[in-house]
Amino acid sequence: MKTKILTINSNNFEPSDLNGAAEILRKGGLVAFPTETVYGLGADGLNPDASRKIYAAKGRPSDNPLIIHIADYKALEELTADCPENGRKLAEAFWPGPLTLIFNKSSKVPYSTTGGLDTVAIRMPAHPVAYELIRISGIYIAAPSANISGRPSPTKAEHVIEDLSGIIDMIVDGGKADIGLESTIVDVTAEMPVILRPGYITDEMIRRIIGQVEYDKAVLTRIQDSGIRPKAPGMKYKHYAPRGALTIYEGNREAVVSEINKIAEEKLQAGYKVGIIATDETLSCYHRGIIKTVGTRKDVNTIARGLFEILRDFDSEGADYIYTESFENKQLGQAVMNRLLKAAGYHIEKV
Ligand code: TXA
Ligand code: MG
Repeated sequence: MKTKILTINSNNFEPSDLNGAAEILRKGGLVAFPTETVYGLGADGLNPDASRKIYAAKGRPSDNPLIIHIADYKALEELTADCPENGRKLAEAFWPGPLTLIFNKSSKVPYSTTGGLDTVAIRMPAHPVAYELIRISGIYIAAPSANISGRPSPTKAEHVIEDLSGIIDMIVDGGKADIGLESTIVDVTAEMPVILRPGYITDEMIRRIIGQVEYDKAVLTRIQDSGIRPKAPGMKYKHYAPRGALTIYEGNREAVVSEINKIAEEKLQAGYKVGIIATDETLSCYHRGIIKTVGTRKDVNTIARGLFEILRDFDSEGADYIYTESFENKQLGQAVMNRLLKAAGYHIEKV
């Protein structure tokens, strides 16, 4: 199939520019579109045939449920069996925005969208293109990240083209995703709300609204070893992985730089291609290999925004080994480290 590319200026467009994309979605087709977190691969969330196409295109296991994207609160009523107080407060505080909430589903939501679960994941995105596309299509858009399963999530249309060109009907190119990591997921079905995936909306921000929140054990532990089953089915799969072997170095800055320089030299001598993930602060401290900065430590937002792109860039360069510094495990840094650890298969060297 030939994939249409529609280029939109996200800051200056008419809703009618999205008519073609909306029409494809209404007819049960697949359209990738920008959101403020990462690009999503959209289909009609209430049409089982349409959501089955998402699984086929991504090569995604069918037990891994999809997030339904909405543009108004009436949709929330329609798609959920009940809306607990905590869910309502969080939605009011952070929607539209990078927060996904898990509710008990209504009978309208097909099991093909929820991977057989009785709960449903819902998000109201803030990106103007995503928001308008939901609104003018008049449907609820089921959308996982628009990557082939297991690859880093796409933060630019080019990444979607790399993975899904020829497989889906249309890609809406609205420029670079601002946040660069997927939404925070919070399960509000139980008395105690639980964070299933860390993201831009931090535990601190959540506590400010509802007082308390816990983490799913699988977020904090190396799940392969522990036998813990994550509550978000998608978190159990190998994820975000570049093709090269990624290792994280943790410790004081000079020691980390010196260890990475040493191991990079060894691998280069042995004939391998080596990539190094540096920061603006350390870029000039590395000597050999393909050296790229992911962002500045002065602003963790830049690191979140650059992470998936840099992993993909090292794939394009054919790196066999990739070495990265680690980041402070707090606030948005927690989401950065969560994705980095999964990408590295939890391979971390303390120096
Ligand atoms: O930022 C985002 O959330 C992006 C954009 C496109 O909105 N979407 C995204 O979707 O990251 P995806 O499919 O790549 O990740 C959704 C995660 C998966 O880990 C899935 O298992 C979990 O959400 N999930 C979905 N429905 C769930 C449910 N009912 N209960 C528990 N986890 C659920
Ligand atoms: Mg994903």
